[in-house]
Amino acid sequence: EKKWVRLVTAKTPTNIAVIKYWGKRDEALILAINDSISVTLDPNHLCTTTTVAVSPAFQQDRMWLNGKEISLAGDRYQNCLREIRKRACDVEEEDKGIKIAKKDWESLHVHIASYNNFPTAAGLASSAAGLACLAKLMNVKEDQGQLSAIARQGSGSACRSLYGGFVKWIMGNSEDGSDSLAVQVTDEKHWDDLVILIAVVSSRQKETSSTSGMRESVETSLLLKHRAQEIVPKRIIQMEEAIKTKDFPAFARLACADSNQFHAVCLDTTPPIFYMNDTSHRIISIVEKWNLAEGTPQVAYTFDAGPNAVLIARDRKAASLLLQRMLFYFPPGAGADLNSYVLGDESILQ
Ligand code: PMV
Repeated sequence: EKKWVRLVTAKTPTNIAVIKYWGKRDEALILAINDSISVTLDPNHLCTTTTVAVSPAFQQDRMWLNGKEISLAGDRYQNCLREIRKRACDVEEEDKGIKIAKKDWESLHVHIASYNNFPTAAGLASSAAGLACLAKLMNVKEDQGQLSAIARQGSGSACRSLYGGFVKWIMGNSEDGSDSLAVQVTDEKHWDDLVILIAVVSSRQKETSSTSGMRESVETSLLLKHRAQEIVPKRIIQMEEAIKTKDFPAFARLACADSNQFHAVCLDTTPPIFYMNDTSHRIISIVEKWNLAEGTPQVAYTFDAGPNAVLIARDRKAASLLLQRMLFYFPPGAGADLNSYVLGDESILQ
């Protein structure tokens, strides 16, 4: 038998939530208790590059992350692989002598290799990686929305990385999760004044994974119940409006308040979860004081399940001032363990 290999490489960007997802109503299918909205980062700056390969010579499915083999045994990987295999189609590459029929995919194995182009920093990495790539390899004809529903079963927040720009993950209300998928709010060109800067406060792995943190919050936090039912639905509407009309003051107010409420929910969990540290808190005060002094917000902050700050400046001028301030308060080598990553246009560094 002739041995061949078919390879596909793709870049998957990461996304940062501005209205947070925290809490599942179904852990197996990964269905959220509220809608969420995120901004997809420019894949030229922060992304995961994945190569997937298929060959009759492969004996089993295998995956490597940053060069180290990881186990695919978990339910999440298995669910994603099963769902994507089900939708695989015929593939033919005449020049290479490759001909795969739809039914062949059931017995063919894949190898997946992913690299992050940034230090896998606590609360930053997102694992949408691989799915869009597998879909291409297997000639899957599903639309982005359906693919996002499959990505969701790998990691909830990953479903929002299937689109650029601002993206909403609709929680849906079906039992099988078929309506729990991502939709684009505005594309990447809509609000391109914004400059995103990530202050890496610590690159240590987070202590509480988002999966177990969410479970504990759902089980013990009354504030989370109130947030999911009463607060987030209103914020989603206001946030979509702020994004569509490029209303930075409203955007900043909502994003900061939502990040703070998410961390308040963590504190309201028993036992309490601490994702932010003293440096994170200092960054919040610096931004709050500056915004207050200017009379109108210049920068929004948001923190995920880790201490790193994601700072969104209203324009290049604000981003450049922000960077100067960060360097003033956290001078390199002063022991604050802070490296800054600038996304978007790096010329603001000069
Ligand atoms: O998808 P997960 O399990 O990595 O959860 C992500 C949760 C947050 O990053 C804290 C919020 C969000 O909406 O991305």
